[in-house]
Formats: sequence, structure tokens, C-alpha cells
Amino acid sequence: MNRKLIAGNWKMNGLRADLQTVGDVAAAVSGAAAAPETLLCVPATLLSQAALAAEGSALRIGGQTCHSQQKGAFTGDISAPMLKEAGAAYVIVGHSERRTFHGETDEIVAAQAQSAIGSGLVPIVCVGETPEERSSGQTLTVVAEQLKGSLAGLEPATAFVLAYEPLWAIGTGKVATTAQIAEVHDFVRQFLIGRFGEPGQSVRILYGGSLNPGNAVEILPVSNVDGGLIGGASLKAADFLAIYNTACALQG
Ligand code: PGA
Repeated sequence: MNRKLIAGNWKMNGLRADLQTVGDVAAAVSGAAAAPETLLCVPATLLSQAALAAEGSALRIGGQTCHSQQKGAFTGDISAPMLKEAGAAYVIVGHSERRTFHGETDEIVAAQAQSAIGSGLVPIVCVGETPEERSSGQTLTVVAEQLKGSLAGLEPATAFVLAYEPLWAIGTGKVATTAQIAEVHDFVRQFLIGRFGEPGQSVRILYGGSLNPGNAVEILPVSNVDGGLIGGASLKAADFLAIYNTACALQG
């Protein structure tokens, strides 16, 4: 069994006052090997302060995207070495909101993942189908296509994390059923083994989409679910920690 990863994605939420949440989470999580790993992906403006608030604890801090280039004339963008220097250990790439609102393609996502790895960050590569793709029975085809494109060029031994986030479940309160989650996660696992061989077993596959303290009990034990990528419910320390505690109980 892979060590679970409970990751929060704050999206475009969080001002300095919210660093209290980082401190509260940091104070509560354990670094024991038997405990799940924890991560909060905060807005870039809060990264270095969040890293300070988490210093000395088991909580890791991450970014929400990075540019594929290390530096250059890309106004408004942020690069992987910048995130790393600010204190990030992880970075989300290919989140559906980046794909939808910023036109990020699988090819761009693959380049971002490479850049992250090259800078010593662990990328969390997101995939997931739209409601139309699911209702027309194309979920696995779409996910396979995204995996193929977004993981292009990655070496078997590199550390990365995969996140399956059905678009219709993100921020909607509509959660995929455990059968739907198991089907895609088992499929992703087979894809990873086919692509990377044995090391594909140890790539963590997170579920994301309206994960909350209420449904984590059913979702986290599902086959090949190695943790969660949590949006809304990661903004409150109590909710995030409730999900973490559920994962602790499963892991132990
Ligand atoms: P949600 O977001 O938990 O608010 O649905 C998940 C995500 O987009 O990562």
C-alpha cells in the first residue's frame, strides 16, 4: 500500500490572515511513516509565508501551477525554481481550471511537469473528463489520452503524483460514486504499470472533486485511491484535518 497523500488546493483563495489555517494544520499533523503525508497548495503570494508557518512540521507546501520555462519574458507567470525557492515541495500541473481557463494542453502540462521535476519539485499531474465525455461513455478514452500526453517524456524512476478529478465533481458537491472512482483509478494504475513497469505501482493516485469530511470515509479506502486533492474543504483546518484523520485511521 502506498503512503497516502492528503493535499489541499486553495485555488485563488487566501490572504495573510489565512496563514493561521496553515499553522493549525501544521501543528496537528504527524511526520510518522505510518501517517499520511500532508500538503497545502496555496496561492503563490502566500508560499514563502506558508512555508515559514509550516517549518519544522510534517506539512508540506506546494504551488498550483508553474511555467514550462525556468525564466524569461513571460509576464505574470511563475517558474518552478521560483516556487522551489519560496519553499514549495510540490506543484499541481494540468488542473482542469488551468486547462479550461488558460488553454493548457497535454503538451504544455508535460513540459510543466518536466520543469517541476528538473527544479526538484514533485508535480501532481491532473486528469479528468467533462460531464459530456462521461455521459457519452468516453471517460477512459479521454483519461488515457490525457495520461499519454501529460506524462510524455517522464522517466520511470521520477517522483510524481497523479490526480483524477472528474470535472463534473469539482466544486459542485456532486461526488463520483465509489464504483466510478474505482474504475478510473484501476485503469490509471494499469496505464502507469504499462508505461513505467513496476515503479508504476508506487505512483500515488489521488481522487479530487468535492471530497469532504463526510464522504472521505467511503472514498479513501477505494481500490488504488492513494489520497485526495481537496479544494473547498481544504480552506478550513478542521475540515482538512477531519479528512486527514480518516486517512490516518485507514493507514494505521
Ligand atoms: P473541490 O476541488 O474539492 O472544491 O471540488 C477539488 C480540486 O479542484 O482540486
